[in-house]
Amino acid sequence: MRSLAVLTSGGDSPGMNPAIRSITRAALHIGLRVWGIKNGYQGLLDDEFIPLDALVVSGKNREGGTFLQTARCAAFLSEDKQREAVEILRRRKIDGLVVIGGDGSLHGALALHNLGFPTIGIPGTIDNDIYGTDAGIGVDTALNTIISLVDMIKATASSHRRCFVVEVMGRQCGYLALMTTISTGSQVAVIPEFPYNFPRIIDTLEKRFASKHNNSVIIVAEGVMSGAEFMRRLKEEALAIGKTVRQELRLTVLGHVQRGGSPTHFDRLLASRMGEMAVQALIKGESGKMTALLGNTIILQDLKSILGRPNPLPPDAIRVAQNLGIEIGDAPRP
Ligand code: ADP
Ligand code: F6P
Repeated sequence: MRSLAVLTSGGDSPGMNPAIRSITRAALHIGLRVWGIKNGYQGLLDDEFIPLDALVVSGKNREGGTFLQTARCAAFLSEDKQREAVEILRRRKIDGLVVIGGDGSLHGALALHNLGFPTIGIPGTIDNDIYGTDAGIGVDTALNTIISLVDMIKATASSHRRCFVVEVMGRQCGYLALMTTISTGSQVAVIPEFPYNFPRIIDTLEKRFASKHNNSVIIVAEGVMSGAEFMRRLKEEALAIGKTVRQELRLTVLGHVQRGGSPTHFDRLLASRMGEMAVQALIKGESGKMTALLGNTIILQDLKSILGRPNPLPPDAIRVAQNLGIEIGDAPRP
């Protein structure tokens, strides 16, 4: 191998920059040339390559987002365009590619591997919805951002004795919602994995009010419904069973702030480890694999066998939530 390229694709996540830095430095260390591809697969098709060196990636560990920028590229779904991408990479004499991104981006990485181009994926997403790794790059930073925002909400909620509905990201995965409910000491998690139970939620709020607690917080995962829709339904369901929610209700949609922020120590380290592992994998002739964290070890997982599988919530987190009295909904049907 003489040169490799890296791109970031799909939704950005904090830690993508440290991953690019790690890939660059690990590749330079063994004498490879390194190219950055701007704007994900779109930039690959548009032939947008920039040379990366130690100076270009200097200081990137502390920056959120991705300085290579990212994009969603519908055209790349077609095999013709994927073949075109491989031709561009070969014409530029690039011997291997690292793709940093979420589930969709990793499907793209697998497609390039299937066309014979050496490609390694790195999970970069705040959603933690990728099967086969304990964490994606960016999850920890997003969790830290969310908990500091919910802590702030609790200050005002307590002052007014209110109940806040907080909508968090995560697509079809309830990981961010469940984890932040536990760590902020919130009362209800509405997550895609467990069907919500309005009568029990209403009961939880009633008991909370009666026992003179000065705030309640319900964390709603966007994959179930919007926070606004949840609040509307909560009032409707309470009326339907002859009850009223006695706390005054307010809504906060955290939105894209969850994707920003300087990467935490955990994400910087995870990105550094996964970036280095991706380079080592390519020089050993690996392809069609994804770096993954299992326990405290970074390993390679086969993309073909992990993509498309839902990432289950950690069973111990479910148990802790239940045993701490958090209302997380009904047990899913097996
Ligand atoms: P994420 O990577 O964050 O999950 P997307 O699902 O939007 O984000 O995917 C990002 C990009 O990856 C898409 O715009 C497309 O270019 C590429 N992609 C997604 N799915 C596939 C697929 N099945 N095959 C090839 N490329 C894909
Ligand atoms: O996949 C990351 C994510 O932030 C999801 O949590 C969210 O649903 C989506 O991306 C938002 O996408 P966009 O940045 O295109 O609005």
